[in-house]
Amino acid sequence: MLRSRIAGIGMYVPEHVVTNNDLLKYMDTSDEWIQERTGIKERRYAHRTDETTTTMGVEAAKIAIERAGTTANEIDFIVFATLSPDYYFPGCGVLLQRAMQMKEIGALDVRNQCSGFLYALSVADQFIKTGMYKNILVVGAEKHSFGLDLTTRSRNISVIFGDGAGAVVLQPTEDDNCGILSTHLHSDGESAEILAMFNPGTHANHWGEKNYADFDDAEIAHMFISQKMIDNEQLFPFMDGPAVFKKAIVKFPEVINEALNKNGYKTSDIKLLIPHQANLRIAQFVQQKLKLSDDQVYNNIQHYGNTTAASVPIALCEAWEKGKINNGDLVCLAAFGSGFTWASALLKW
Ligand code: COA
Repeated sequence: MLRSRIAGIGMYVPEHVVTNNDLLKYMDTSDEWIQERTGIKERRYAHRTDETTTTMGVEAAKIAIERAGTTANEIDFIVFATLSPDYYFPGCGVLLQRAMQMKEIGALDVRNQCSGFLYALSVADQFIKTGMYKNILVVGAEKHSFGLDLTTRSRNISVIFGDGAGAVVLQPTEDDNCGILSTHLHSDGESAEILAMFNPGTHANHWGEKNYADFDDAEIAHMFISQKMIDNEQLFPFMDGPAVFKKAIVKFPEVINEALNKNGYKTSDIKLLIPHQANLRIAQFVQQKLKLSDDQVYNNIQHYGNTTAASVPIALCEAWEKGKINNGDLVCLAAFGSGFTWASALLKW
């Protein structure tokens, strides 16, 4: 049976390290609070003008492509996951295609936030399994630093996020002892507003409870980004942290078990679990619940914060570079985030 395998993996994080103490410049917080609640010691922030989500994605992609033993010219499809695109539209996939001077191949952007990379991987997996494509580049990249409210008002959310990118190249294999065994995708839109960035958007709720007929012409002329939105500082992400935490600790174990059950494995068979790096406390809770040893779980949120769609490929790449994953190892990737969406992938390296 045709499967897809990760033939090459790469990551890129900006040089600029921002410690918890560095954040004191902008907000009332403390290193102790951040470490205790999230496990984060530092994160990276992209260069304000020279680095974008796409340029970071390109850097990660170059490494993944080289490690896959192929070239940008051979890539026949791009799936790019991000919630912080360079432009509202078009997506980052086409910008990467242009930057890497690839052929006129398909480029798809995925908007599933923290689960984005796993959704992207799953989409790419289907195209490989059907034989449609032979070299798919899957990228997860984020430039959060540009869009965060770094004042005390949003400190519960802003201290968590960091910038970076990860990428893999998927290729087909007929080897039974390697490749993606299954992927599992879920969503629950009931909680969409618990972790969200509402503006700019087409919902128009920033006007309060008014009906469209009640808007005057001046308001209608600037519905998408209004002066009121700017004045009321409504252009930043919102998170109900405790609600996210509660949901995540249920859905993470559920979707990991779903992947194991589907393939007839037990938690003890996992060589390495790469959970989305949302919060170290969530990862530790999941580890405890599944009775996994420290060696079976890889975390690096301490150094990069939560990089959303980039977190799983960055952690996977780093774990592989450190020699924690070898051929034939059972690896589980799992993520949870805004939407809510959650997902897992089980693979033999
Ligand atoms: N520094 C200092 N104090 C902070 C702070 C910060 N960065 N952020 C919040 N606080 C304060 C709050 O103002 C509040 O103070 P109060 O009790 O005087 O009102 C107190 O800490 C507790 O706030 P709360 O939001 O209830 O904190 P918490 O214990 O739930 O921790 C999170 C906040 C965000 C760390 C936690 O809810 C969390 O990790 N949730 C999951 C988030 C996540 O994983 N998101 C990504 C999903 S992909």
